Amino acid sequence: MNLNDIEIDAVTKRFEDTVAVDNVSMKVAKGELFGLLGPNGAGKSTLTKMLCGMVNPTSGTIKVGGYNIRDNAMKVKELLGVVPQDIVLYDYMNARENLAFFGKLYGLSGGKLRDRIEELLKFTQLDEKAVKRHISTYSGGMKRRVNIAAALLHEPQVMLLDEPNAGLDPGNRLALWEIIQTLHKEGKTIVLTTHMMDEAEELSDQVAIMDKGKIIALGSPRQLIKKVKMENTITVVPNKITPKLMEAVKKISGVKRSYRAYDEEEKIETIKIITERAEDILPEVVSGISSVGSKILSVQLSRGTLEDVFILLTGRSLREEEQL
Ligand SMILES: Nc1ncnc2c1ncn2[C@@H]1O[C@H](COP(=O)(O)OP(=O)(O)OP(=O)(O)O)[C@@H](O)[C@H]1O
Ligand SMILES: [Mg+2]
Repeated sequence: MNLNDIEIDAVTKRFEDTVAVDNVSMKVAKGELFGLLGPNGAGKSTLTKMLCGMVNPTSGTIKVGGYNIRDNAMKVKELLGVVPQDIVLYDYMNARENLAFFGKLYGLSGGKLRDRIEELLKFTQLDEKAVKRHISTYSGGMKRRVNIAAALLHEPQVMLLDEPNAGLDPGNRLALWEIIQTLHKEGKTIVLTTHMMDEAEELSDQVAIMDKGKIIALGSPRQLIKKVKMENTITVVPNKITPKLMEAVKKISGVKRSYRAYDEEEKIETIKIITERAEDILPEVVSGISSVGSKILSVQLSRGTLEDVFILLTGRSLREEEQL
């Protein structure tokens, strides 16, 4: 029996002068939830598209369920359930009609298809009232759920989810996390693409961080955080963040790296300080910030996160592009 559901070996994809995926090798074990993480343009979608045969690699080999996808396209299609980054549904049909359409594409029909559709509508918590409306009236979260149900119709062993949580509100995001976790518990192998560090950290057994087409870190979230020796982070909320303040923080001894970050939940700007000894340098952090005339509104000590790992490895924040 093959213990890996996905084996990617030295895969490269070139689009004219862009190297979207650059010599990537990785394995995903059966039943594993694998988080594929990286900023915009890192190559995550291209890698996902190569996994399901939508895009052909320039070089390298990909196996799914032990089958080389180049020679066994039909078999691999059976094994895979794909939820693409861009939602693919028919706007003028309701959820049930969409699922019936996709089910038929997979060769399902009759009572079996009907039962499967009802089961999946329940699983993805789409209520009867909503199910009867055209897809065009659905929220983003509801569309995602229908897309996930569509990918599950033929009971695939491997699920590829490309940024299923992008653009969702916190409530829908949590509902989707629950769906993903249930699939994981059922033993499905899942590749979850995201650019949300907390999502990857919370859900994944293994994580690959991609940047500019390359995998720059691979391991469990715990291993990655440990590896770069960033057990500690200090998060400071000052009354305002100025270049002078950032300069002052950088100079404090014991600060490995410091950067501006946006707290999505609290909707505030913070300064994150990565250090090996948070308690020891706290007094210097406080006095350093006061010395440039800034006031501290709150300070928090916590363990390092995947986002810190990313910043240490790449020297920039995941959301830097969006902030500028
Ligand atoms: N069909 C294509 N033709 C030309 N270039 C492409 C094509 N598809 C992707 N690229 C380029 O390849 C690189 C990787 O893109 P990709 O969509 O895989 O990134 P991503 O990590 O999924 O980003 P995002 O987080 O924005 O979804 C980008 O530079 C992109 O512009
Ligand atoms: Mg993408």
